[in-house]
Amino acid sequence: MSQKKISFEITVYDSVIELSNDDQNLMSAAVEARSRAYAPYSSFNVGAAVLLENGEIIEGNNQENASYPSGLCAERVAIFYAGAKYPGMKIKAIAITAASLNHEVKEPAAPCGNCRQAISEYEFRQQEPIKILLMGETGSIVECDSLSDLLPLGFNSSFLN
Ligand code: THU
Repeated sequence: MSQKKISFEITVYDSVIELSNDDQNLMSAAVEARSRAYAPYSSFNVGAAVLLENGEIIEGNNQENASYPSGLCAERVAIFYAGAKYPGMKIKAIAITAASLNHEVKEPAAPCGNCRQAISEYEFRQQEPIKILLMGETGSIVECDSLSDLLPLGFNSSFLN
């Protein structure tokens, strides 16, 4: 029997102005996307912005549905659109931000489990880390170096071979 410890580091920024120019741009795109979210049922607006290897930024936001499970999170809207528009192109980073119409989101919004799995597919496929930037409406920004940090012991296609 052996025990192993899995740990990871995050970087916490007090404000967006502490981010690099590229990361500020990416987070601004996510904030803009957030403002266009379609979330009439939860009033919880999420925006995501994906930075591709060619420098293009692809945005997404949550798209809800009267049949609740038919809706989709912002992260998957963005990453699936990136995959649809530029199949196989590497993804450098994804910025995610959330704001509620009912309260101030002061903590960085963490992606749900389904979105972590969806992003991990792209990271595993490209064999290069995807940086994750998380932000609420106000407050600090959390940076993770890789999606795999957020999904330890994850499932990927290697299990299928
Ligand atoms: N949501 C996202 O867009 N991303 C997440 O990672 C968590 C949740 C959306 C789904 C739904 O439209 C609303 O937030 C409330 O759950």
